[in-house]
Amino acid sequence: MLRLAIITASSTRTLAEDSAGTELAQRIGAQGWQVVSHVVVKDQRELIARAIVAAAADCDIVLTCGGSGLSLADVTPEATADVCERMVPGIAEAMRAASMTKTRRAMLSRAVCMQRGRTLVINLPGSLKAATECFDAIYDQFEHAVQMSAGAGH
Ligand code: MTE
Repeated sequence: MLRLAIITASSTRTLAEDSAGTELAQRIGAQGWQVVSHVVVKDQRELIARAIVAAAADCDIVLTCGGSGLSLADVTPEATADVCERMVPGIAEAMRAASMTKTRRAMLSRAVCMQRGRTLVINLPGSLKAATECFDAIYDQFEHAVQMSAGAGH
């Protein structure tokens, strides 16, 4: 069973108001996977980086939600890169390719996907619609990705 963590980066939302994170948790549960933690942290690079480190210590995949746009307050990709080692560009490319069929604004995403050790860290956008569209575009590869990260072959 996959174990996932959700980190929503938002300076305005509370956990109770985090509809995108809550919907992601529902979708994870619907796959029979476990949500090991779900937190909201303020849009600050250091806070997001620390939350990623804490979550990644105890799960297979960390999904961040929000903070990946062009506003100067959007720092989730930088926080991700601060605490991860290796790029996994195909996952972010797949999200943007799928999202471009829905809105051309998708090209404004700076989301990255990286590995911290064996844990995948994936930046999703922050709105309910965008986060779920991006999740739906990639989740079918999660189990294989986690097996590969653990050292299994194809
Ligand atoms: N992807 C999908 N599928 N649908 C969307 O509506 N919005 C885009 C993009 N990706 C969007 C999307 C927009 S407008 C932005 S600014 C970026 O995601 C980053 O969003 P974030 O700042 O909430 O992380």
